[in-house]
Amino acid sequence: MRIIFFGAPGSGKGTQSKLIAAKYGIPQLSTGDMLRQAAKDGTEVGLLAKRAMDQGMLVSDEIIIGIIEERTKAEDCRKGYILDGFPRSLPQAKSLDETLIQNGQGLDHVIYLEIDPERVVERLTGRRVCSECGEEYHVSFKPPKNEGLCDKCEGALIQRDDDHEEKIRTRLAAYAETTEPLAEYYQNKGIIRRVKAEGEIPQITEAIEKWLQ
Ligand code: AP5
Repeated sequence: MRIIFFGAPGSGKGTQSKLIAAKYGIPQLSTGDMLRQAAKDGTEVGLLAKRAMDQGMLVSDEIIIGIIEERTKAEDCRKGYILDGFPRSLPQAKSLDETLIQNGQGLDHVIYLEIDPERVVERLTGRRVCSECGEEYHVSFKPPKNEGLCDKCEGALIQRDDDHEEKIRTRLAAYAETTEPLAEYYQNKGIIRRVKAEGEIPQITEAIEKWLQ
């Protein structure tokens, strides 16, 4: 099964795609996580990407397409995968189509998590991430047992550089201009599955699973 999780920053793509990936035993490929790791490792691509990410802008199509082409060739992607945060532009979507055609593969679903942009600001300013293992929390909606510490590894919880309100608004603008138009692209292919992304996390997972049965 090959699925795209699509939606605005903070719509819950990461949260939901991890749950679905674990349930179906396929890898969850987050371009955001891959870029942050590359930046942490100090690679050339990582440092280039970090500049755009820190400003809330999209990273160049060329960089992202190369990363995804390479990652989806791996053995663990043979049975399928979930794309979280890719594609985010028309050139990315077209490049994915070409790769899939070359491999004789198709896309099964595009799960579109729909949310009011103001809810996104509330969610993202309250997000905290473990600096050691990357586990995510929210100060109100998913607090850790001990303030400032990860439940899993006791690593320090930090706020992402792009989770400050001004950067969030830049990310939302980039989404509206470059990414949201892709909904129509996938609508025309008949594979878009709309899910209301507000409410309790388990209920949203349930709504997604109904599309996957
Ligand atoms: P990325 O890391 O992908 O960021 P994003 O798309 O902005 O998405 P987020 O991770 O912020 O949100 P999410 O939808 O995954 O929500 P989450 O589940 O975490 O990308 C970062 C940057 O990398 C981009 O800005 C860009 O620069 C670059 N990039 C990445 N891919 C790219 C591409 N293809 N092309 C170009 N550039 C690219 O949830 C958010 C918070 O809300 C969490 O705290 C969570 O606990 C909480 N939450 C989740 N669900 C609920 C709920 N139902 N109720 C209450 N709280 C909830």
